[in-house]
Amino acid sequence: MSARALLNGVRVAPSILSADFARLGQQVGEVLVAGARIIHVDVMDGHFVPPITMGPIVVGALADQVHAAGGMLDVHLMIERPERHVSEFVKAGADSISFHSEATPHIAYAASLIAQSGAGVGVAINPATAIGVLEDVLGEIDMVLCMTVNPGWGGQQFIARSPEKIGRLRRRMSADIALQVDGGIDPHTAPVCADVGANVFVAGSAIFSSGEPGDAYRAIAHSVNAE
Ligand code: DX5
Ligand code: ZN
Repeated sequence: MSARALLNGVRVAPSILSADFARLGQQVGEVLVAGARIIHVDVMDGHFVPPITMGPIVVGALADQVHAAGGMLDVHLMIERPERHVSEFVKAGADSISFHSEATPHIAYAASLIAQSGAGVGVAINPATAIGVLEDVLGEIDMVLCMTVNPGWGGQQFIARSPEKIGRLRRRMSADIALQVDGGIDPHTAPVCADVGANVFVAGSAIFSSGEPGDAYRAIAHSVNAE
């Protein structure tokens, strides 16, 4: 299945940010076996957000395993000037790349670079960013990533006003654009987001901070009737 087809389904996307990096391949294997097909990779640069996390090397290390299982690597860039780094992530095996509208002066240019590379295009907005910033680029992208916590860390609490914003976003978007939510997603918050139109549910700590990532993945997938 293509990356765009995967993103357009109802899917839970495990975020490896909360995985045990000493056994990353094994942990990713557990969620793939449980049915996950979108593996979410959080890239942070110490500038756009305070922490530094991972880069193309980690994408490259997982690419064969994820692709062999029929899955995709969904890269979430929390970095300044994301347009400068698109090609290295695509070369490493990224299937979709989301960048933050707040991190570049030229959203359309960054989106076009990703599209030309063949990867799916996502634009992310922070909780405090108004949805209007997306209005004139919606025709050129495959996914909107609506942050439901402020970016930077796993394990934060879902921001309670998020569903109202998600609903407004969904009403502005055509049905073939995916709407991803990220931050504080678990079996309680995922259905709330699904009810207002989200279809891709990123979950980090709810999956990997549990003793059994496969079971935790299944619990969230069940809560939204994911494929
Ligand atoms: C936060 C990242 C998220 C993070 C979510 O900046 O974008 O993808 O892994 O973690 P949880 O699910 O623990 O809120
Ligand atoms: Zn993320």
